[in-house]
Amino acid sequence: MPSITFIHPDSRRQQIEAGDGESAMQAATRNDVSGILAECGGNAMCATCHVYVDEDWLSRLPPMGDDEDALLDGAAAERRANSRLSCQIKLDADLDGLVLNLPDRQL
Ligand code: FES
Repeated sequence: MPSITFIHPDSRRQQIEAGDGESAMQAATRNDVSGILAECGGNAMCATCHVYVDEDWLSRLPPMGDDEDALLDGAAAERRANSRLSCQIKLDADLDGLVLNLPDRQL
């Protein structure tokens, strides 16, 4: 089971265990990670699951799709080069140790 760490805007770190095949958003909501709202339930329609991927991990994620790219333009918090939608990050053993930073707002 991959372990992932969310870093809150106040620098608090929250490490959770994810199930294989689960998205980072699903793992976050199942573990009550505040800061991931996921209003659309993972259908790439809301951008309230926005995260900033730790630079060391960015190149290890699959490239984003057009829908994700377009949605990130409308994210509530500033879009950065390392912005992704956590519902589009599927977790597996290769992503064990992934670090994701939470933006200061999702709405
Ligand atoms: S949960 Fe809505 S876009 Fe990710």
